[in-house]
Amino acid sequence: MDKKEFKVTPWEVSGNIDYDRLIKDFGVEKINDTILSRIKKHTKDLHFMLNRKVFFAHRDLNWLLDEYEKGNKFYLYTGRAPSGPVHLGHLLPWIFTKWLQDKFDVELWFQFPDEEKFLFKDNLSFDDTEKFLHDNMLDVIALGFDPKKTKFIVDTKNANLMYKEACKVAKKITFSQVKSAFGLKDDSNIGEIFYTSMQTVPAFLPSVLKNKKIPCLIPHAVDQDVHFRVTRHVLPKLGHYKPSSIQCIFLPPLSGVDGKMSASNESSAVYTTDSIEVAAKKIRKYAFSGGRATLEEHRKLGGNPDVDVSYQWLRMLFEPDDKKLQKIHDDYKSGKLLSGELKEILIEKVSVFLKDHQKKRELAKKNIDKFLL
Ligand code: TRP
Repeated sequence: MDKKEFKVTPWEVSGNIDYDRLIKDFGVEKINDTILSRIKKHTKDLHFMLNRKVFFAHRDLNWLLDEYEKGNKFYLYTGRAPSGPVHLGHLLPWIFTKWLQDKFDVELWFQFPDEEKFLFKDNLSFDDTEKFLHDNMLDVIALGFDPKKTKFIVDTKNANLMYKEACKVAKKITFSQVKSAFGLKDDSNIGEIFYTSMQTVPAFLPSVLKNKKIPCLIPHAVDQDVHFRVTRHVLPKLGHYKPSSIQCIFLPPLSGVDGKMSASNESSAVYTTDSIEVAAKKIRKYAFSGGRATLEEHRKLGGNPDVDVSYQWLRMLFEPDDKKLQKIHDDYKSGKLLSGELKEILIEKVSVFLKDHQKKRELAKKNIDKFLL
Protein backbone atom coordinates (compact mmCIF):
# COMPACT_ATOMS: atom_id res chain seq x y z
CA MET A 1 0.00 0.00 0.00
CA ASP A 2 1.32 3.41 -0.97
CA LYS A 3 1.90 6.00 1.74
CA LYS A 4 -1.08 8.08 0.70
CA GLU A 5 -3.46 5.15 0.61
CA PHE A 6 -5.45 4.40 3.72
CA LYS A 7 -8.91 3.39 4.73
CA VAL A 8 -11.03 4.53 7.67
CA THR A 9 -14.53 3.06 7.82
CA PRO A 10 -16.46 1.53 10.74
CA TRP A 11 -15.51 -1.89 9.40
CA GLU A 12 -11.96 -1.37 8.22
CA VAL A 13 -9.04 0.78 9.29
CA SER A 14 -5.77 0.28 7.41
CA GLY A 15 -2.78 2.03 5.93
CA ASN A 16 -0.89 5.10 6.99
CA ILE A 17 -3.72 7.35 8.09
CA ASP A 18 -3.47 11.01 7.12
CA TYR A 19 -5.63 12.60 9.81
CA ASP A 20 -5.52 16.04 8.22
CA ARG A 21 -6.96 14.62 5.06
CA LEU A 22 -9.68 12.88 7.08
CA ILE A 23 -10.66 16.25 8.53
CA LYS A 24 -11.25 17.50 5.01
CA ASP A 25 -12.85 14.34 3.67
CA PHE A 26 -15.21 13.92 6.63
CA GLY A 27 -15.90 17.64 7.00
CA VAL A 28 -15.11 17.72 10.72
CA GLU A 29 -13.47 20.64 12.52
CA LYS A 30 -9.95 20.56 13.86
CA ILE A 31 -9.44 20.92 17.60
CA ASN A 32 -7.57 24.22 17.84
CA ASP A 33 -6.35 26.46 20.65
CA THR A 34 -9.49 28.59 20.63
CA ILE A 35 -11.76 25.65 21.36
CA LEU A 36 -9.25 24.28 23.88
CA SER A 37 -9.27 27.47 25.91
CA ARG A 38 -13.04 27.49 25.77
CA ILE A 39 -13.13 23.95 27.21
CA LYS A 40 -10.54 24.91 29.81
CA LYS A 41 -12.77 27.69 31.13
CA HIS A 42 -15.06 24.95 32.41
CA THR A 43 -12.65 22.13 33.21
CA LYS A 44 -9.83 24.23 34.78
CA ASP A 45 -7.17 21.93 33.36
CA LEU A 46 -6.97 20.14 30.02
CA HIS A 47 -6.62 16.41 29.62
CA PHE A 48 -3.33 15.53 27.94
CA MET A 49 -5.27 13.81 25.16
CA LEU A 50 -6.62 17.24 24.26
CA ASN A 51 -3.33 19.09 24.57
CA ARG A 52 -1.57 16.46 22.47
CA LYS A 53 -4.38 16.36 19.89
CA VAL A 54 -5.10 12.68 20.46
CA PHE A 55 -8.62 14.06 20.37
CA PHE A 56 -8.08 16.05 17.20
CA ALA A 57 -11.46 16.80 15.66
CA HIS A 58 -15.04 17.65 16.56
CA ARG A 59 -18.46 18.56 15.29
CA ASP A 60 -20.41 21.45 16.78
CA LEU A 61 -18.52 21.66 20.07
CA ASN A 62 -18.98 25.42 20.07
CA TRP A 63 -22.73 25.03 19.87
CA LEU A 64 -22.63 22.45 22.67
CA LEU A 65 -20.67 24.84 24.90
CA ASP A 66 -23.04 27.70 24.03
CA GLU A 67 -25.91 25.57 25.29
CA TYR A 68 -23.94 24.49 28.35
CA GLU A 69 -23.19 28.10 29.21
CA LYS A 70 -26.89 28.88 28.93
CA GLY A 71 -27.54 26.16 31.50
CA ASN A 72 -28.65 23.52 28.99
CA LYS A 73 -26.44 20.65 30.11
CA PHE A 74 -25.47 17.93 27.68
CA TYR A 75 -25.10 14.21 28.22
CA LEU A 76 -22.36 11.93 26.88
CA TYR A 77 -22.90 8.97 24.59
CA THR A 78 -20.37 6.37 23.51
CA GLY A 79 -20.30 2.62 22.96
CA ARG A 80 -18.73 -0.71 22.24
CA ALA A 81 -19.94 -3.57 20.07
CA PRO A 82 -19.03 -6.74 22.00
CA SER A 83 -17.05 -8.93 19.62
CA GLY A 84 -13.89 -9.87 21.46
CA PRO A 85 -11.77 -8.97 24.45
CA VAL A 86 -11.02 -5.32 25.22
CA HIS A 87 -7.52 -4.08 24.40
CA LEU A 88 -5.70 -0.91 25.40
CA GLY A 89 -6.75 0.89 22.22
CA HIS A 90 -10.41 0.57 23.15
CA LEU A 91 -9.78 2.17 26.51
CA LEU A 92 -8.40 5.39 25.09
CA PRO A 93 -11.71 7.14 24.24
CA TRP A 94 -13.39 5.69 27.34
CA ILE A 95 -10.73 7.09 29.66
CA PHE A 96 -11.29 10.49 28.09
CA THR A 97 -15.05 10.09 28.38
CA LYS A 98 -14.66 9.44 32.10
CA TRP A 99 -12.67 12.68 32.40
CA LEU A 100 -15.47 14.55 30.62
CA GLN A 101 -18.06 13.00 32.89
CA ASP A 102 -16.15 14.11 35.98
CA LYS A 103 -15.31 17.60 34.74
CA PHE A 104 -18.76 18.50 33.43
CA ASP A 105 -20.69 16.39 35.93
CA VAL A 106 -22.88 14.87 33.25
CA GLU A 107 -24.70 11.65 32.50
CA LEU A 108 -23.20 9.02 30.21
CA TRP A 109 -25.15 6.62 28.04
CA PHE A 110 -22.93 3.72 27.06
CA GLN A 111 -24.33 1.58 24.25
CA PHE A 112 -23.50 -2.09 23.81
CA PRO A 113 -24.90 -2.90 20.36
CA ASP A 114 -24.67 -6.63 20.87
CA GLU A 115 -26.25 -7.33 17.49
CA GLU A 116 -23.77 -5.23 15.47
CA LYS A 117 -20.91 -7.68 15.13
CA PHE A 118 -23.36 -10.61 14.97
CA LEU A 119 -24.71 -8.98 11.80
CA PHE A 120 -21.39 -7.90 10.33
CA LYS A 121 -19.14 -10.87 11.10
CA ASP A 122 -19.37 -14.37 9.69
CA ASN A 123 -18.44 -16.42 12.70
CA LEU A 124 -19.90 -14.72 15.73
CA SER A 125 -22.96 -16.22 17.40
CA PHE A 126 -25.24 -14.52 19.91
CA ASP A 127 -23.75 -16.86 22.53
CA ASP A 128 -20.34 -15.34 21.77
CA THR A 129 -21.56 -11.75 21.90
CA GLU A 130 -23.35 -12.45 25.19
CA LYS A 131 -20.09 -13.65 26.70
CA PHE A 132 -18.12 -10.65 25.42
CA LEU A 133 -20.90 -8.29 26.48
CA HIS A 134 -20.45 -9.26 30.11
CA ASP A 135 -16.67 -9.30 29.80
CA ASN A 136 -16.50 -5.88 28.09
CA MET A 137 -18.81 -4.30 30.66
CA LEU A 138 -16.27 -5.15 33.36
CA ASP A 139 -13.63 -3.12 31.53
CA VAL A 140 -15.89 -0.11 31.24
CA ILE A 141 -16.92 -0.26 34.90
CA ALA A 142 -13.29 -0.73 35.98
CA LEU A 143 -12.46 2.69 34.56
CA GLY A 144 -14.46 4.22 37.38
CA PHE A 145 -17.63 5.59 35.79
CA ASP A 146 -20.13 6.80 38.35
CA PRO A 147 -23.03 4.30 38.43
CA LYS A 148 -25.42 7.06 39.46
CA LYS A 149 -24.63 8.97 36.27
CA THR A 150 -23.96 6.11 33.84
CA LYS A 151 -26.44 3.94 31.98
CA PHE A 152 -25.62 0.88 29.89
CA ILE A 153 -27.99 0.40 27.00
CA VAL A 154 -27.87 -3.06 25.42
CA ASP A 155 -29.59 -3.34 22.06
CA THR A 156 -31.08 -6.83 22.40
CA LYS A 157 -32.04 -6.31 26.04
CA ASN A 158 -33.41 -2.79 25.72
CA ALA A 159 -35.09 -3.41 22.38
CA ASN A 160 -38.44 -2.49 23.91
CA LEU A 161 -37.20 1.06 24.46
CA MET A 162 -35.16 1.30 21.29
CA TYR A 163 -37.00 -0.38 18.46
CA LYS A 164 -39.74 2.14 17.88
CA GLU A 165 -37.24 5.00 17.88
CA ALA A 166 -34.92 3.09 15.54
CA CYS A 167 -37.82 2.63 13.12
CA LYS A 168 -38.47 6.37 13.12
CA VAL A 169 -34.82 6.87 12.18
CA ALA A 170 -34.84 4.08 9.58
CA LYS A 171 -37.85 5.60 7.85
CA LYS A 172 -35.80 8.74 7.12
CA ILE A 173 -32.86 6.90 5.54
CA THR A 174 -32.94 5.38 2.07
CA PHE A 175 -31.22 2.22 0.94
CA SER A 176 -29.08 4.20 -1.48
CA GLN A 177 -27.91 6.57 1.29
CA VAL A 178 -26.80 3.64 3.42
CA LYS A 179 -25.11 1.99 0.47
CA SER A 180 -23.05 5.02 -0.37
CA ALA A 181 -22.31 6.11 3.21
CA PHE A 182 -21.18 2.68 4.40
CA GLY A 183 -20.07 1.04 1.19
CA LEU A 184 -22.70 -1.67 1.56
CA LYS A 185 -23.54 -3.76 -1.49
CA ASP A 186 -26.61 -5.39 -2.94
CA ASP A 187 -25.58 -8.65 -1.30
CA SER A 188 -25.16 -7.10 2.19
CA ASN A 189 -27.62 -8.66 4.59
CA ILE A 190 -30.58 -6.46 5.50
CA GLY A 191 -29.59 -6.37 9.19
CA GLU A 192 -26.44 -4.50 8.18
CA ILE A 193 -28.56 -2.00 6.30
CA PHE A 194 -30.77 -1.34 9.34
CA TYR A 195 -28.00 -1.29 11.93
CA THR A 196 -27.03 2.39 11.80
CA SER A 197 -30.53 3.34 13.00
CA MET A 198 -29.81 1.45 16.24
CA GLN A 199 -26.55 3.32 16.74
CA THR A 200 -28.45 6.58 16.28
CA VAL A 201 -31.00 5.91 19.03
CA PRO A 202 -28.87 6.78 22.11
CA ALA A 203 -28.08 10.14 20.48
CA PHE A 204 -31.66 11.23 21.26
CA LEU A 205 -33.33 8.60 23.48
CA PRO A 206 -32.77 10.58 26.72
CA SER A 207 -34.57 13.51 25.08
CA VAL A 208 -37.53 11.25 24.29
CA LEU A 209 -37.62 9.76 27.79
CA LYS A 210 -37.39 13.13 29.53
CA ASN A 211 -39.55 14.84 26.97
CA LYS A 212 -37.18 17.76 26.47
CA LYS A 213 -34.39 18.48 24.02
CA ILE A 214 -31.04 17.60 25.62
CA PRO A 215 -27.75 18.24 23.79
CA CYS A 216 -25.59 15.15 23.26
CA LEU A 217 -21.80 14.86 22.98
CA ILE A 218 -20.34 11.69 21.47
CA PRO A 219 -16.65 10.98 22.18
CA HIS A 220 -15.50 8.34 19.71
CA ALA A 221 -12.68 7.12 17.49
CA VAL A 222 -12.84 8.77 14.08
CA ASP A 223 -13.92 5.59 12.24
CA GLN A 224 -17.42 5.95 13.70
CA ASP A 225 -17.97 9.40 12.18
CA VAL A 226 -19.95 8.12 9.22
CA HIS A 227 -22.65 6.72 11.53
CA PHE A 228 -23.07 10.06 13.19
CA ARG A 229 -23.07 11.93 9.88
CA VAL A 230 -26.20 9.94 9.10
CA THR A 231 -27.49 10.64 12.62
CA ARG A 232 -26.97 14.36 12.20
CA HIS A 233 -28.77 14.30 8.88
CA VAL A 234 -31.81 12.52 10.29
CA LEU A 235 -32.36 13.90 13.80
CA PRO A 236 -33.50 17.42 12.88
CA LYS A 237 -36.18 15.78 10.72
CA LEU A 238 -37.46 14.07 13.86
CA GLY A 239 -37.43 17.29 15.88
CA HIS A 240 -34.22 16.52 17.79
CA TYR A 241 -30.87 18.27 18.09
CA LYS A 242 -27.96 17.05 16.00
CA PRO A 243 -25.41 15.45 18.34
CA SER A 244 -21.98 17.01 18.76
CA SER A 245 -18.93 14.81 18.66
CA ILE A 246 -15.29 14.80 19.70
CA GLN A 247 -13.08 12.39 17.83
CA CYS A 248 -9.78 10.65 18.50
CA ILE A 249 -7.05 9.00 16.47
CA PHE A 250 -6.20 5.31 16.93
CA LEU A 251 -3.71 3.90 19.37
CA PRO A 252 -1.27 2.21 16.98
CA PRO A 253 -0.93 -1.58 17.03
CA LEU A 254 2.33 -3.00 18.39
CA SER A 255 3.32 -3.90 14.85
CA GLY A 256 3.70 -0.28 13.75
CA VAL A 257 2.00 3.07 13.47
CA ASP A 258 -0.22 2.05 10.55
CA GLY A 259 -3.89 1.26 11.03
CA LYS A 260 -5.50 0.36 14.33
CA MET A 261 -5.09 -2.36 16.86
CA SER A 262 -7.02 -5.48 16.10
CA ALA A 263 -8.53 -7.55 18.88
CA SER A 264 -8.15 -10.67 16.79
CA ASN A 265 -4.42 -10.31 16.16
CA GLU A 266 -2.52 -11.34 19.23
CA SER A 267 0.77 -9.74 18.23
CA SER A 268 -0.87 -6.38 17.57
CA ALA A 269 -2.64 -5.77 20.88
CA VAL A 270 -2.24 -5.87 24.63
CA TYR A 271 -5.50 -7.00 26.22
CA THR A 272 -6.73 -5.68 29.55
CA THR A 273 -6.65 -9.24 30.85
CA ASP A 274 -3.08 -10.02 29.77
CA SER A 275 -0.81 -10.84 32.68
CA ILE A 276 1.98 -8.39 33.32
CA GLU A 277 4.45 -10.97 32.03
CA VAL A 278 2.56 -11.51 28.79
CA ALA A 279 2.16 -7.77 28.22
CA ALA A 280 5.87 -7.20 28.83
CA LYS A 281 6.78 -10.01 26.48
CA LYS A 282 4.55 -8.68 23.72
CA ILE A 283 6.04 -5.22 24.02
CA ARG A 284 9.63 -6.51 24.03
CA LYS A 285 8.99 -8.81 21.13
CA TYR A 286 6.56 -6.95 18.89
CA ALA A 287 6.52 -3.21 19.65
CA PHE A 288 7.79 -1.57 16.48
CA SER A 289 10.86 0.46 17.23
CA GLY A 290 12.01 3.75 15.75
CA GLY A 291 15.55 2.92 16.80
CA ARG A 292 18.55 2.34 14.58
CA ALA A 293 19.90 -0.99 13.40
CA THR A 294 23.00 -0.95 15.59
CA LEU A 295 23.86 0.53 18.95
CA GLU A 296 26.58 2.61 17.35
CA GLU A 297 24.28 4.10 14.78
CA HIS A 298 21.60 4.76 17.37
CA ARG A 299 23.99 6.64 19.62
CA LYS A 300 25.19 8.67 16.67
CA LEU A 301 21.95 9.36 14.79
CA GLY A 302 19.25 8.87 17.42
CA GLY A 303 15.83 7.22 17.17
CA ASN A 304 12.57 8.35 15.59
CA PRO A 305 9.81 8.78 18.21
CA ASP A 306 7.18 9.51 15.53
CA VAL A 307 7.15 5.91 14.35
CA ASP A 308 8.14 4.27 17.63
CA VAL A 309 5.12 2.45 19.04
CA SER A 310 6.39 2.49 22.63
CA TYR A 311 6.84 6.24 22.48
CA GLN A 312 3.41 6.71 20.90
CA TRP A 313 1.74 4.62 23.60
CA LEU A 314 3.40 6.78 26.23
CA ARG A 315 2.31 9.93 24.41
CA MET A 316 -1.27 8.87 23.82
CA LEU A 317 -2.09 6.92 26.96
CA PHE A 318 0.55 6.20 29.58
CA GLU A 319 2.64 9.29 30.33
CA PRO A 320 0.43 12.20 31.36
CA ASP A 321 3.39 14.29 32.55
CA ASP A 322 4.43 16.62 29.70
CA LYS A 323 7.90 17.26 31.09
CA LYS A 324 8.70 13.57 31.48
CA LEU A 325 7.38 12.84 28.02
CA GLN A 326 9.46 15.63 26.49
CA LYS A 327 12.59 14.28 28.13
CA ILE A 328 11.92 10.77 26.81
CA HIS A 329 11.33 12.27 23.36
CA ASP A 330 14.54 14.31 23.41
CA ASP A 331 16.71 11.56 24.86
CA TYR A 332 15.44 9.10 22.30
CA LYS A 333 15.97 11.49 19.43
CA SER A 334 19.48 12.31 20.53
CA GLY A 335 20.43 8.65 20.88
CA LYS A 336 20.92 8.83 24.62
CA LEU A 337 17.94 6.56 25.23
CA LEU A 338 17.97 3.16 23.54
CA SER A 339 14.94 1.33 22.12
CA GLY A 340 15.20 -1.39 24.74
CA GLU A 341 15.27 1.20 27.50
CA LEU A 342 12.28 3.02 26.04
CA LYS A 343 10.36 -0.25 25.98
CA GLU A 344 11.14 -0.83 29.64
CA ILE A 345 9.76 2.62 30.51
CA LEU A 346 6.53 1.69 28.76
CA ILE A 347 6.42 -1.79 30.33
CA GLU A 348 6.67 -0.28 33.79
CA LYS A 349 3.70 2.03 33.06
CA VAL A 350 1.63 -0.71 31.46
CA SER A 351 2.32 -3.06 34.39
CA VAL A 352 1.14 -0.53 36.96
CA PHE A 353 -1.96 0.15 34.89
CA LEU A 354 -2.84 -3.51 34.30
CA LYS A 355 -2.42 -4.46 37.92
CA ASP A 356 -4.82 -1.77 39.04
CA HIS A 357 -7.27 -2.29 36.19
CA GLN A 358 -7.47 -6.04 36.78
CA LYS A 359 -8.21 -5.51 40.46
CA LYS A 360 -11.01 -3.08 39.62
CA ARG A 361 -12.28 -5.44 36.94
CA GLU A 362 -12.72 -8.16 39.57
CA LEU A 363 -14.62 -5.77 41.82
CA ALA A 364 -16.79 -4.73 38.88
CA LYS A 365 -18.31 -8.21 38.71
CA LYS A 366 -20.72 -7.47 41.50
CA ASN A 367 -21.63 -4.02 40.22
CA ILE A 368 -22.92 -4.67 36.70
CA ASP A 369 -26.56 -4.42 37.80
CA LYS A 370 -26.06 -0.87 38.98
CA PHE A 371 -25.34 0.24 35.42
CA LEU A 372 -28.10 -1.55 33.52
CA LEU A 373 -31.07 0.47 32.32
N1 TRP B 1 -20.00 0.73 16.45
C1 TRP B 1 -19.17 0.76 17.63
C2 TRP B 1 -18.20 -0.44 17.61
O1 TRP B 1 -17.94 -1.01 16.62
C3 TRP B 1 -20.00 0.70 18.89
C4 TRP B 1 -20.75 1.97 19.20
C5 TRP B 1 -22.09 2.09 19.36
C6 TRP B 1 -20.19 3.25 19.43
N2 TRP B 1 -22.43 3.36 19.67
C7 TRP B 1 -21.29 4.10 19.72
C8 TRP B 1 -18.89 3.76 19.44
C9 TRP B 1 -21.08 5.45 20.01
C10 TRP B 1 -18.69 5.10 19.70
C11 TRP B 1 -19.78 5.95 19.98
O2 TRP B 1 -17.63 -0.82 18.62
